Amino acid sequence: MYYSDELIEDIRMKNDILDVVSGYVKLQKKGSSYFGLCPFHNEKSPSFSVTPSKQMYYCFGCGAGGNVYTFVMQYENYDFVEAVKMLAERAGVELPEENNDAESRRASDLRKTLLEINKKAAYFYCYKLRQKDGRLGYQYLTGRELSEETIKKFGLGYAGKYRDELYRYLKNEGYNDVVLRESGLITFDEARGVYDKFFNRVMFPIMDVNSRVIGFGGRVMGEGEPKYLNSPETKVFEKSRNLYGLNIARTSRKPYVIICEGYMDVISLHQAGFQNAVASLGTAFTSGHASLLKRYTEEVMLSYDSDGAGVKAALRAIPICKSAGLRVKVINMKPYKDPDEFIKNLGKEAYEERIQSAQNAFFFEISVLEEQYDLKDPESKTLFINELAKKLLIFEEKIERNNYLEAVAEKYHIGFANLEGLVNKFGLQMDPAAKRQEEPERAKKKLDADSAGEQGQKLLLTWLIEKPNIYPQIKKYITIEDFDEGVYKTVALHLFEQLEQHKLNPAQILNIFQNQEEQGKAAALFNTKLEALEGKMEEEKAVKDIVLKVKQHSLENLNKNSDPSDMAGLQRILAGKSILQELEKLHISLD
Ligand code: CTP
Ligand code: MN
Repeated sequence: MYYSDELIEDIRMKNDILDVVSGYVKLQKKGSSYFGLCPFHNEKSPSFSVTPSKQMYYCFGCGAGGNVYTFVMQYENYDFVEAVKMLAERAGVELPEENNDAESRRASDLRKTLLEINKKAAYFYCYKLRQKDGRLGYQYLTGRELSEETIKKFGLGYAGKYRDELYRYLKNEGYNDVVLRESGLITFDEARGVYDKFFNRVMFPIMDVNSRVIGFGGRVMGEGEPKYLNSPETKVFEKSRNLYGLNIARTSRKPYVIICEGYMDVISLHQAGFQNAVASLGTAFTSGHASLLKRYTEEVMLSYDSDGAGVKAALRAIPICKSAGLRVKVINMKPYKDPDEFIKNLGKEAYEERIQSAQNAFFFEISVLEEQYDLKDPESKTLFINELAKKLLIFEEKIERNNYLEAVAEKYHIGFANLEGLVNKFGLQMDPAAKRQEEPERAKKKLDADSAGEQGQKLLLTWLIEKPNIYPQIKKYITIEDFDEGVYKTVALHLFEQLEQHKLNPAQILNIFQNQEEQGKAAALFNTKLEALEGKMEEEKAVKDIVLKVKQHSLENLNKNSDPSDMAGLQRILAGKSILQELEKLHISLD
């Protein structure tokens, strides 16, 4: 989809960065900027700043920075087009329709209506919980040791005894049967008529990462079957792409996410301070879940039930998480059934200790494997070791494989060389085509340290942004040709144009860069703190030195790259030299 520069800039201007960021980060005013804890790295004291006058943010701790688009891209893991869409919607700016046909418009209207209905239903259930006839539900929840604050935070509610309360309410709100059927909250049955899907249950609204209600889970209060009832899949409720609690967990700034089995587990973990817990929605964990999580974290901790079903679920989830590129560990809940019970009995400190001692997923897998064999019996032990050797083939990286080999060989007293031999034997037997493709080493792109020339160019741009009145004084001497190819040159090009028109607008310049690395580099320019200098004269001298440095660097480049027989080139060098001489005499004023 192509959006015009004007449109992109219009949307940017209509989304004040302070408003947008405040929706995610708690900020406090300090001078002309606002500071808060950086959502992009773990920190205890705020080094993340938002400057409304520049419409930019910057973290002095990790270097993340940019305009409102960059922020949304970084925070939500959106690409540029997704960020444009979100901010356009937020500001009520109409985007040219991608697919203008009636069909896709109808689908998007339906999704909107379904979200509306779910939201209204959530309010309705919450309201019910606080009514007299909702006492049962309220007592059930408090009986499970949930605080008022927790009940509110998760928007827990109650569906009453009558079988059509929600239906009547939603009809009253003007929704027709066709759309109500699509919402999954109302059942239309030929024989039994129309009735609410949920009644006589405590209600758990299920939210997507943007905290929009997309469905519900409802639990019987006490014993009864089924224990949980969930909304069916709808146009807005995709169970394999959403996780319970992720809307909160993703902002917890912990370096890992805890995955557990149940809604109640998530809620009790959050109440105990583990706000990074999530659960799947009454279905198994899928690769959709794993790639969703990969947007927010590098590591997951499985906190599944300690029973057979929980172990099985963990064994299933491990390879799914691994192939999404997540590191995996397993938390031991024994002797309790699940995190909810564990915390009720042993408390949050004990749970934290379990997190610290969580088992590496591979060791978890082999300890489960081990239970199927009798290691005292030589024949059984041999079979076990064979299985072990096959499993070690997962590690393609030699160093990693050897580390595991060493650990396992020691644990089971096998001897490194023996086990290695066995692993190699199985490795050779394996069909080479079946071998997993080596994952391309994730290129950790490190920003090259600024070269000497770049350093000057960077400082010059920073000064020009801070003190635009330098521009008319130097424009005779410095042009964009004096900048090296790259981000700084692009910034200079636009900045000079804006300064020429007396319309300084750094956030607009950032629109140009659509990859995060470049955006970060450009944003850093606008946020570099200039060294505090003694007085005005010192500053003026500093600026002049910078200007000189930039010109010298540019001349050196010209020299290096010039062909002695190229007369025009030679003349440019001569002209440059005389500019340099003039510059040396120039007085730059900062007034
Ligand atoms: N579940 C479900 N339908 C059921 C039983 C379970 O959808 N009939 C899903 C729910 O999402 C539930 C999860 O599986 O949260 C885990 O089930 P379970 O461990 O039985 O429930 P808990 O969350 O532990 O609930 P509680 O503590 O209330 O028993
Ligand atoms: Mn439970």
